[in-house]
Amino acid sequence: MSAKKSKILVTGSAGFIGSHIYDLIFDMGYEVYGADDLSGGFIRNVSQKKFFTKLDLRDRVKTAAYIEKIKPDIIFHLAADATEGRSQFTPFSAMDRNIVAYKNVLIPAIKHGLKKMILTSSMSVYGAQQVPFKESMMPQPEDIYGISKMSMEQTTRVLADVYGFEFVVIRPHNVYGPRQNLSDPYRNVVGIFINSLLHGKNLYIYGDGMQKRAFSYIDDVAPAMVKAGFKKECEGR
Ligand SMILES: NC(=O)c1ccc[n+]([C@@H]2O[C@H](COP(=O)([O-])OP(=O)(O)OC[C@H]3O[C@@H](n4cnc5c(N)ncnc54)[C@H](O)[C@@H]3O)[C@@H](O)[C@H]2O)c1
Repeated sequence: MSAKKSKILVTGSAGFIGSHIYDLIFDMGYEVYGADDLSGGFIRNVSQKKFFTKLDLRDRVKTAAYIEKIKPDIIFHLAADATEGRSQFTPFSAMDRNIVAYKNVLIPAIKHGLKKMILTSSMSVYGAQQVPFKESMMPQPEDIYGISKMSMEQTTRVLADVYGFEFVVIRPHNVYGPRQNLSDPYRNVVGIFINSLLHGKNLYIYGDGMQKRAFSYIDDVAPAMVKAGFKKECEGR
């Protein structure tokens, strides 16, 4: 694939990670489009407004028309209801914004010549297994968010096998940094702690405080995700 000629779409491009991914790809000289419904992201995160479309990917007809217009060769899919801690209580949102929105993007994209999908999944697919998580572990998601991500991963594998596009699945672990939504109380303890400190509130620690998590800074994560999207060795993994 002649790299710079590829047309790229970043979904969730007004969000935290998606906006960083968008900017990195734009700076590499690609023709890159961004779509987001601004339900969780912010227009202030969008650096290239003329390549941005406000679009709710749950709308199958509008999404199909958008994909037909752009005909992306490569998609970095980041759009999601990422409020993991809430997902048991908002299962329609978790499934519609994750599973349904994803298939609304993926299926027309395949029809219009998709060459590669870089799917943002989550460490939540591992569930409550013993840390540190390894890619060889069998996923055991324990909440609706994790289940929806697992379903998106499997859908990608099956359709890639049938229709012959390449894919990469990325499972970020607690990303933090600039443009993170600090007022989201449902995920990302670093943001929750910063928000509490800014408001002079105590930090609330669940359990005995001995639990372990991996935290990743956005400037480590976003370039690695972009790199993984273009590396042959990452395909199908
Ligand atoms: N931040 C983390 O620590 C982390 C960890 C693991 C996985 N992830 C995944 O990475 C991706 C990006 O996460 P983030 O932290 O940047 O979250 P985010 O909420 O900042 O970004 C998600 C974006 O998707 C958009 N979106 C939601 N529903 C949409 C719809 N129906 N149509 C169009 N746009 C829609 C939101 O407006 C938001 O801008 C997500 O897929 C998330 O599940 C994030």
